[in-house]
Amino acid sequence: MIDDIFKKPEHVAVIMDGNGRWAKRRGLPRVFGHREGAKAVERTLKIAVELDIKWLSVFAFSTENWKRPKEEVDAIMSLLVEYINTKVPELVRDNIRLRFMGRRDGLPEMIRESMDEGEKATEHCSGLNFVVAINYSGKAEIVDAVNKILRSGVDEISENTFKSYLYIPEMPEPDLLIRTSGEKRISNFMLWQLAYTELYFTETLWPDFDEEEFLKAVYFYQSRERRFGKVPG
Ligand code: IPE
Ligand code: IPE
Ligand code: MG
Repeated sequence: MIDDIFKKPEHVAVIMDGNGRWAKRRGLPRVFGHREGAKAVERTLKIAVELDIKWLSVFAFSTENWKRPKEEVDAIMSLLVEYINTKVPELVRDNIRLRFMGRRDGLPEMIRESMDEGEKATEHCSGLNFVVAINYSGKAEIVDAVNKILRSGVDEISENTFKSYLYIPEMPEPDLLIRTSGEKRISNFMLWQLAYTELYFTETLWPDFDEEEFLKAVYFYQSRERRFGKVPG
């Protein structure tokens, strides 16, 4: 597997894209793609644990995704509740800490309850940190941080202090971002945190994402020289 002498990403972020196209290619309704996508999340979590990656974050629903047909939005919300409710005992067993980021306001009560319970039940877990972005927007996260700062009465701020106002202050910035389905854009994901992230794009649709694909992304990461503005060395 991944050799320990090579650098490993501490935080892998994923824009899980292509569920709809996966279903369409099979002549199925889009929701089948989302259901299959949930299985890919399972596989990805398992590999992240095996690789001993500390943080895995996934983009599940953006603030822009409300613009989709109501039927699809409702199906995604139901899938999320079902997923959280059934998976939490397994997460506890596997020592995985579940957290969510995004605006809680505007989410159906049903899902907010599941989210709170899931976070509480796994609060003590010290293994992988699994972050699910729901009703998330990178611009909204920055605006929410600014509003918190304004309310706190601070009139000057450093980058480090700013970070402490983000949704999960202790979350390290992603080392590697994977986006599936061939789109090469960020779609409003973690705008602040992705400043120096290595970006990996694959044509594979999210429901087809598997161990081999994950390892390819990690090998890509290992082949990159991260310079952070310095000269090669
Ligand atoms: C990603 O798959 C899942 C969500 C955005 C909720 P899509 O549903 O965007 O799939 P495509 O891009 O239409 O194929
Ligand atoms: C990004 O995918 C959001 C999620 C994966 C949840 P989209 O499918 O919504 O992004 P665009 O519309 O192609 O940019
Ligand atoms: Mg998409």
